[in-house]
Amino acid sequence: MPQSEVTRRDFLNATGTAAIAAGALTAARPARAAAANDKLKIGFVGPGGRGFGAHVKTLTRLAEEGRPIELVAVCDVFSEHRDRAVDHIKSRLKTTPRSYVDFREMYAKEELDAVCIGTPDHWHAKQAIEAMQAGLHVYCEKPMTKTVEEALQVFKVSQETGRVMQVGVQSTSLPIWNTVNAQLRAGKIGKVLMYQTEFFRNSAMGQWRYYKLTEQMNPKNINWKLWLGSDEGLSEEQPFDREVYAQWRRFWPFGSGMFTDLFVHRTTSMLKATGLRFPGRVVGAGGIYLEYDGRDVPDVATVVSDFREGVQGMVTATMASQETPVLQLIRGHHGSFVFGNGEAFKEAKFVPERPQVTRNSNLAEETFPVGDIPDSTYVHFDNWIDAMLADDPMLCNNPADLGAAAITNVLLGAMSYRQGKVFHFDPDTLTIGTGDESWARGWEEKSRRREPANHIPGWTAGNAGSTLEEPTYMKLAGPWVDGVDPATKG
Ligand SMILES: NC(=O)c1ccc[n+]([C@@H]2O[C@H](COP(=O)([O-])OP(=O)(O)OC[C@H]3O[C@@H](n4cnc5c(N)ncnc54)[C@H](O)[C@@H]3O)[C@@H](O)[C@H]2O)c1
Repeated sequence: MPQSEVTRRDFLNATGTAAIAAGALTAARPARAAAANDKLKIGFVGPGGRGFGAHVKTLTRLAEEGRPIELVAVCDVFSEHRDRAVDHIKSRLKTTPRSYVDFREMYAKEELDAVCIGTPDHWHAKQAIEAMQAGLHVYCEKPMTKTVEEALQVFKVSQETGRVMQVGVQSTSLPIWNTVNAQLRAGKIGKVLMYQTEFFRNSAMGQWRYYKLTEQMNPKNINWKLWLGSDEGLSEEQPFDREVYAQWRRFWPFGSGMFTDLFVHRTTSMLKATGLRFPGRVVGAGGIYLEYDGRDVPDVATVVSDFREGVQGMVTATMASQETPVLQLIRGHHGSFVFGNGEAFKEAKFVPERPQVTRNSNLAEETFPVGDIPDSTYVHFDNWIDAMLADDPMLCNNPADLGAAAITNVLLGAMSYRQGKVFHFDPDTLTIGTGDESWARGWEEKSRRREPANHIPGWTAGNAGSTLEEPTYMKLAGPWVDGVDPATKG
């Protein structure tokens, strides 16, 4: 199933990506002026698996607990999912949300303050952009978008409109990442050099084939054209197929397999902990080595991102072995932070390097507790409500800049795997380039100039843990010009 690059480009041009470089975006409609005691009126787009199980249910609970929100409208192209969301809100909150098939009609007719987007990946950018341009705050499921260009566009529109955007990587609401970030910036592990993370899984039937097909999934109950987004240029027309509807993650036009379903979770956490954002150079590798079930996406893959700050990030996984994941950690010159696997770990552990390197025999293992957070999704939505009430996008635990940076890392990895290329990314101009020798040459030249190390954003530790000792015998080094021993030159 080839990705419809041409039609997707048409959509981007139509909605403004081409204008990003020129900084010419359409002016946003102002937010609805809410009275002081008004509740935030929220609508749902795509209350399917996540959109119902997390978005509708969590916000219903938060409304029951007295947060100032009203769940007023529901939009889904599948009648069963629409009805299920309406029934849930009705039975729990005793109000009846209006239902829609087309999100544009919902945005236009309802006096909304915010929307929650839980559709498959290929719809995220368009639905988020149109919402923000209509003056609405957005909770958008991860991955923020289907392509890098879309991510940059959503980021830009979020800045232009000033709307609050929370990207649905709920683990970013665990305070441990901020705790570790403060330690890293203060120089706890010395020069930060590398993060590695993982998302290993296994399944008897093949990854994502556990999403059930039902007889109710049929063209009578589902507006297939609107699911495909073929009129909008989001994918090409194809006949209705329950396998595609329910297991879209396995096919490039709609998802990107583990890159966007899983890697983006862990990568976002690592960016949050290190303070890193957009990469400088990315390469991806992998293949379909077991799951020959008609899927497009690999079952073994690795993405390696190198950052201008002088840090390498790696995310790796198989979809067919789970019991032996690699450690999730951040390495530095004087020590490491080691996390448990996944996000349900209890503590982060500081592990020092040897005193022969750190010159500090007092450095000892230390633990930093994660705290008891039984439901990170609940905290993530609660945080979104706080940010909306304060009208402050940067209060979000996963704002648009972090969301865009994380998805850029993993999608460049997917592009590298698919196109057989290495990608460069310029974090200043937010542009993609093809890899060449300049990356390695830049570091070699820096070494020859004996420059100080580059650091993660917010670094406050000066040279601590990031300079090398000069052995006295290095005085003997240097070229013997005209046969003269450089050591004799004083
Ligand atoms: N944060 C997490 O832990 C987490 C977990 C699961 C899924 N997700 C994300 O949530 C999103 C949805 O995943 P899912 O498993 O719930 O998929 P799903 O297929 O179960 O649900 C998607 C829903 O969107 C509806 N839909 C499709 N196109 C639409 C359109 N144009 N307008 C309105 N509704 C439309 C579908 O009918 C369906 O009800 C994905 O982006 C996925 O990555 C995040």
